[in-house]
This record gives sequence, structure tokens and C-alpha cells, in this order.
Amino acid sequence: MLNKVKWVYSSQNNQELAQRYDQWSKKYEQDLTENFGRPTREPIVDLTIKYVPKNAHILDAGAGTGLMGQWLNEEGYKNLVGIDLSLGMLAEAKKKNVYTDLRQMVLGEPLDFPNDNFDAVTACGVFTYGHAPSNSFDELIRVTKQGGYIIFTLRPDFYEKSDFKAKIMDLETQKKWQLIEQGEPYKAEPKAQSDLYLQTWVIKISNQGKKILK
Ligand SMILES: C[S@@+](CC[C@H](N)C(=O)[O-])C[C@H]1O[C@@H](n2cnc3c(N)ncnc32)[C@H](O)[C@@H]1O
Repeated sequence: MLNKVKWVYSSQNNQELAQRYDQWSKKYEQDLTENFGRPTREPIVDLTIKYVPKNAHILDAGAGTGLMGQWLNEEGYKNLVGIDLSLGMLAEAKKKNVYTDLRQMVLGEPLDFPNDNFDAVTACGVFTYGHAPSNSFDELIRVTKQGGYIIFTLRPDFYEKSDFKAKIMDLETQKKWQLIEQGEPYKAEPKAQSDLYLQTWVIKISNQGKKILK
């Protein structure tokens, strides 16, 4: 079987990435859960519950087929907006009926939302090889309210090898945001790659950070 995760990682540009996710969209959840052993609920959900109130207006960035929205909805979060570059993935997410709005947008490019629009952003499995770039954080900070959270997963090896480490540290040094918590590394695909770990990052947008940005 073609390893679909490696296949999407190797996309050369956003158009190819969107096409590959479009093709994969109907089998994505089944593949990841059955063939790759993806956790039935990612730890990012519990970290979101820990910091973000249930009535929060949340942007699920790179929503995919809407699993994150489904998990959050089951926990009582009802004010969820999802964005993704793949229309095929968004079509699957729509079937879950858990988002108030689903829109095609590209992380790394300007987002079609006003400043300070969301209480929190979640992004599960979106910052990795061939996916959303590190400068996506600039727009995510812009659309998140002061004191809001950006909660995302990152592979520890990708963090070290990519420009994400420098970007994350730079935003911290500039006091645009503050690292609040890093979850324990966990096996993301134990059936497929037992050495592939993911870690959840909880970042808070400080008041000071928003003033500096404006
Ligand atoms: C591994 S999937 C994760 C989907 C979902 N968050 C989940 O946990 O199942 C990555 C998703 O990010 C989307 N994506 C990748 N790069 C993106 C970008 N630059 N802008 C918006 N979406 C992007 C893909 O289309 C795909 O739906």
C-alpha cells in the first residue's frame, strides 16, 4: 500500500498538496486510524479543554475532514470555524455538521478574517513536511484575540530540522507570544512508523504581543 502520509509530505507545492488531499479525503480517516494506528482522540483535545472555555470562538486551522471539530464538539465546543486548502477535505468536514463555517484558505497567505477574531486557534497535524509554513503563525496571531491561545501539534524532529524552531523562538523573544505548555511526545502512527512522535504546543498571545504587532 502506498504510504499516503509520505505521499502528501512529498508534495512540491500547495496545488499538488491540495490535489493529493482531495484524492485522499474519503479514505483519510479510515487509513490513519486502521492502518496507521492514529490515536482515537489526539492529546491536543485535552490541552484545549485545559485552557479554552467551552463558549470560545475557535478557528480550526487545517481542519481536514473535521476530526478535531468532532472531538471538540463532543466536549461542548459549538462555536467552531474550520479552514483548509483542500476542498475535498472540507467537503468531508461539512458532513460532520460541527462547524458554523468552513472556508477554503491557505495558511502562509493572508487569511480572510478580521484582527482579533478568535479566542483560540487549533491546528492538528498541519505544521509538518510539505504543509503549512512557519510564517502561518503571523496571520494566526493577527486573527487571535489578546490573551487567546494557539494550540498545535509539531513533530519534535521536524521542529529541530525545519525553520519552525527559529520562528517559534523569535516570536517568543519578541514577546509576541508565550509558550505555556508542551505536552508529552506521543506516538502519532504506531502501526506505521513506531518512531514518529508528535507533541502539542500551547501558546498564549500576550497583551503586550498584540500591542507590538499593531
Ligand atoms: C494531516 S491533515 C490534518 C487534518 C486534521 N486537522 C486532523 O487532525 O485530522 C493536514 C491538513 O492540513 C491541510 N493543509 C496543509 N497545508 C495547508 C495550508 N498551507 N493551508 C491550509 N491547510 C493546509 C491539508 O489540506 C490537510 O487537510
